[in-house]
Amino acid sequence: MKNSLFLDAALSKATVRPPVWMMRQAGRFMPEYWEIKNKYSFLEMCKTPEIAADVTMLPIDLLGVDAAILFSDILVTGEAMGGDLSFTQGVGPKFANPVRNQKDIDNLQTDVLDRLQYVADAIKVIQQRLNGNVPLIGFAGAPFTVMSYLVEGGSSKDFKLTKLFIHNHPQLAHQLLQKIALVTIDYLNMQIAAGVNAVQLFDSWALSLSWDDYKEFSHKYNVEIIAKLNRKDVPVISFCKGSSVFAPLMAEAKPDVVSIDWNADLKNIKQSLPKGIAVQGNLDPHILYADKSVIKERIHRLFKRMEGENGFIFNLGHGIMPDIPFDHVKYAVEVVKDWRASS
Ligand code: CP3
Repeated sequence: MKNSLFLDAALSKATVRPPVWMMRQAGRFMPEYWEIKNKYSFLEMCKTPEIAADVTMLPIDLLGVDAAILFSDILVTGEAMGGDLSFTQGVGPKFANPVRNQKDIDNLQTDVLDRLQYVADAIKVIQQRLNGNVPLIGFAGAPFTVMSYLVEGGSSKDFKLTKLFIHNHPQLAHQLLQKIALVTIDYLNMQIAAGVNAVQLFDSWALSLSWDDYKEFSHKYNVEIIAKLNRKDVPVISFCKGSSVFAPLMAEAKPDVVSIDWNADLKNIKQSLPKGIAVQGNLDPHILYADKSVIKERIHRLFKRMEGENGFIFNLGHGIMPDIPFDHVKYAVEVVKDWRASS
């Protein structure tokens, strides 16, 4: 690997500067994304390896980030299991056949790797294009977050149906979570076998849960998934919004990296975690709307705070919003890459 900053930091080795990549680094904030998006639907883009590879490469070529992330979505596992998934502009993801009772759960398949073969194919094309320049991150949605979309039938602000489901029907919820967990283990191991260099487990909406519910309906399954990955030298990153609170539990699942939202002081979190667990984060993505002088000052502030800590990957606390100016994102990457020169 020509640029091993990301993998070194993920494995808590010293690096000359923090590596940078950003969640949702290939997306609508990029004019070049729209050139492709205007020709195909989002799912067509995910399912056509050459197109998925083209989009994966955009932030490598245009932003110069230190890692690529597979272009796909966390909901493809739900689709492979039998969810009728669509993405509509302005509406977001929809499952037309929500999962809310025993029959719905029984109808979901778990032996579904053949339906996700397009992802393994995309990984192979992407690795040819990357040609060893930067590592490729694969990913999957964590069971609780994927379940929330299956139960709600799409995005939700308050997760009312999902929380009703776990509270009134905990046994059904556990059956559903277990099915998703089995698929997620197979799916991430397929990605590792196809050649990804790291994997990230996205439990984006865990922040909606209480501590006890997080342990029972999210953490339990993330522990199982991480324990069953064929990791070897493939670092595992655990992400959730809510990690400021749940980081100690997330660390118990033994990932290599915990990705932290922007509410927490990153150094305090890092120092509270067992040695050998790296942190990723945690700039508030809204900073990227602000003036460039603010962007630079906030990145420098974070870097000064993290000085002397091995195992730090710079990222946002959550994904880039579609209306953040492209040149602000590019500027943020430059600020990170100039860190030693300007500090
Ligand atoms: O980070 C990357 O650039 C890699 C690709 C990626 C996408 N989705 C592409 C995408 C990744 C890692 C995801 C993960 C994902 N998807 C998450 C977890 C991360 C997070 O944000 O918390 C979640 C919750 C989803 C579910 C999802 N997919 C939603 C809610 C939406 C609609 C909202 C939105 O931003 O449009 C999507 C669609 C989606 N996934 C798009 C992209 C580029 C937009 C599709 C379009 O162009 O219309």
